[in-house]
Amino acid sequence: MPGAFEGETVTRRRLMGLTVHTAGGITAAAFTLPALGFALGPLFSREPFDWQPIGQPSDFPNNTYTTKVITIVQGIGSAGKTIAYVRARNPSIDTEHEDQYNHFIALSSRCMHLGCPVRFVAAAQRFICPCHGGVYDFRGMVSGGPPVRPLDRFYTRVRNGLVEIGPRYSVNSELQRFSPRDPGEPLDGIGQYLYPKRFSTSVLPKD
Ligand code: FES
Repeated sequence: MPGAFEGETVTRRRLMGLTVHTAGGITAAAFTLPALGFALGPLFSREPFDWQPIGQPSDFPNNTYTTKVITIVQGIGSAGKTIAYVRARNPSIDTEHEDQYNHFIALSSRCMHLGCPVRFVAAAQRFICPCHGGVYDFRGMVSGGPPVRPLDRFYTRVRNGLVEIGPRYSVNSELQRFSPRDPGEPLDGIGQYLYPKRFSTSVLPKD
């Protein structure tokens, strides 16, 4: 081989070049891989969520809502708490498919326009958002203003005589379930593809 001594299979120049390039690659990887892991890791880690008992079934009539404070982010104290509006399912108005997770209807208090807290006004049987005039009907469907989809919901179930509340999910205008989305993200038509679910959202806890 030109430039090599007798018996050598690679020149010293080439060996040095390979060594320098290898060392450079390792150094670059040492800087970029941790940064990439730090940036992308949260996308794939699931937010933990446990079922939380919120009361006995008799605490929740089907003709009005009971307000409950629940924890949606654990380990950060009151900053991780939110309000859920809960009532028993009413077959005369709740026409969406019934399963083990919706014997009790639990609505999020987060407005689906920009996220302000909505308030249930019993006299009007409506949820009112104070920020931009969003109005939702008794089932949490949009009946006026800028919100782009119905109020989010929480899975519920009954265990050991207690109503328990689980992860949040989003719904479209036909109350079909979707993984949780952020406010301002519509789920009807092409909206469900324009705003895909995030990997970090909670999954339904195992029984
Ligand atoms: S945040 Fe509720 S209407 Fe704008």
